[in-house]
Amino acid sequence: MLGMNSKDWLNSTIGYIIYPSSYLDTDGDGLGDLKGIIQKLDYLQYLGINLVWICPIFKSPMDDYGYDVSDFEHINPLFGKDEDLITLLNEAHKRDIKIVIDFVLNHTSKEHIWYKKAIEDRNSEEYGYYIFKKGKENNLPPSNWKGFFSTSTWEYEPKLDEYFFHCFSKTMPDLNWANEKLREKIYQIAKKYLDLGVDGFRLDAVAHLAKDLSFSDAVGEKDENGLVFDASKFSNREEIYHYLDLLNENVFSKYDIVTVGEVGGSISAQESLRYNNKENGPIDLVFNFDTAWCNGAYASIEKADDEIKTDLICLKNGFMRWWSTCYKDAKGLALYWNNHDHPRVLSQYGSIKYRKESAKALITTLLFMYGVPFIHYGDEIGMSNTLYTSLDDFKDVSAQNFILENKHKFSEEKMIRFLNRTARVSGRTPMQWDDSENAGFSKGTPHLKINPNYKDVNVASNLKDEDSILHYFRSAIALRKEKTIESFVHDAYFQYIDYENEDVFAYSHGKNQELVVIANFRDHEVNFNFDKTKYEVKLHNYSDDKNSMTLRPFEVYLLIKKI
Ligand code: NOJ
Repeated sequence: MLGMNSKDWLNSTIGYIIYPSSYLDTDGDGLGDLKGIIQKLDYLQYLGINLVWICPIFKSPMDDYGYDVSDFEHINPLFGKDEDLITLLNEAHKRDIKIVIDFVLNHTSKEHIWYKKAIEDRNSEEYGYYIFKKGKENNLPPSNWKGFFSTSTWEYEPKLDEYFFHCFSKTMPDLNWANEKLREKIYQIAKKYLDLGVDGFRLDAVAHLAKDLSFSDAVGEKDENGLVFDASKFSNREEIYHYLDLLNENVFSKYDIVTVGEVGGSISAQESLRYNNKENGPIDLVFNFDTAWCNGAYASIEKADDEIKTDLICLKNGFMRWWSTCYKDAKGLALYWNNHDHPRVLSQYGSIKYRKESAKALITTLLFMYGVPFIHYGDEIGMSNTLYTSLDDFKDVSAQNFILENKHKFSEEKMIRFLNRTARVSGRTPMQWDDSENAGFSKGTPHLKINPNYKDVNVASNLKDEDSILHYFRSAIALRKEKTIESFVHDAYFQYIDYENEDVFAYSHGKNQELVVIANFRDHEVNFNFDKTKYEVKLHNYSDDKNSMTLRPFEVYLLIKKI
């Protein structure tokens, strides 16, 4: 490890996101577990991964798959024992893999002892850990705010005859960060895990720690229940930076770790520097998802599938916005296509028909931009969305709330079509290890349906095939870590080639375009004018190299200038 606060190791870090419920189930309960992750560390090392972010592993009733924590002190028994985390850390460190755990500090589950004490006694310390308020007259909640999961941000608590605030599920009350005692509790928890050897945190929903404490009604378009969604009431508010500065001062700055904050919502790259600027930003990396919906899939439920098309200009602008802001001024830049809150990138920007080609094009495009790349588990074998046929298949609180809210507005068929291309479950289906029953994921009944394509799309078949997506990922990762390549990736000359091209994503690094990536993002041939005779082909996803620049479907090149 490098010296405190230098974090140079981040430059050659390749991250990998694991949804623990879906990685590998070793005890047959249908949910993955920590032992499953431990078993696969060799696989991750083989792939070239050196940092793993594991979604929440603490005790939880699993209403939101672990993001509803009921006890920060213990590992969720569904995932294993407390000792399994120690084993995981030891085994990962032996393989030079860092482990970053998800830390949910915006809310807890209603099952958390803090909440239980709070509603038993309004004079308890814990009462101050949450945000309770009396309703308005006529049994109305304290304000008209709408949260992220399609409901009011207020839920009535009969024991107190008050409402509690929640910006996600109504089983997840938000914590009151204005309360110093609460903040200290959080510091203790964070320290406990860092002292155990955890290498950092992914800070869940960190943009929402502060709320508009006037709780005045939001102004804007009302839904049928009179609710208004105005994220500014509980997102990226001034007080957050103070809370995070304190957290950094008291905890993070004392360890050589990485902190990755989920800073969603409408925040610009420039504003995000408040979180992670080089001078005194409290965290290291920001996940924002500015580039996540550049195919319009989310924009309209009315759109037919064939109207969904990747808007490359939107993608290019998004990546450039973040690069140009963060390159000099931020501590680092997180690079990712998607995570467990999104459909699979292959279904979004790639192609099922050109699975191999498009998976390779997508990873090449991402990997050689400046930043710390994060690969979502399963992307390395080309996992894609599962096509569900029933609304019940979308086993996720946000999808189910969406269905409740919209079932009288849209036909079932339309909702299924929309959710099939946008729902979070697609990014959470069990990892496909082999072609045996349940894709080798579990001997029990998997908690989510396995994608039926697992007979072909799985790790074992990828390992056997020299030309597989997995082997390509492995080579690309190895190349990305080579010193000369790394220095180009981190240089200041990143620019697009033919920026206005709506079909091809092409960029270069180096004063004289020494490193070039050219990727066709379409499932048809596209002409692209670039003289590659002066270049050596380092990566390419077709077996023959046509010397013309007619790019075949999802054809990609990584080129390095010959000396
Ligand atoms: C963001 C997480 O990534 C998501 O899965 C979760 O539902 C919300 N935060 C609430 O914790």
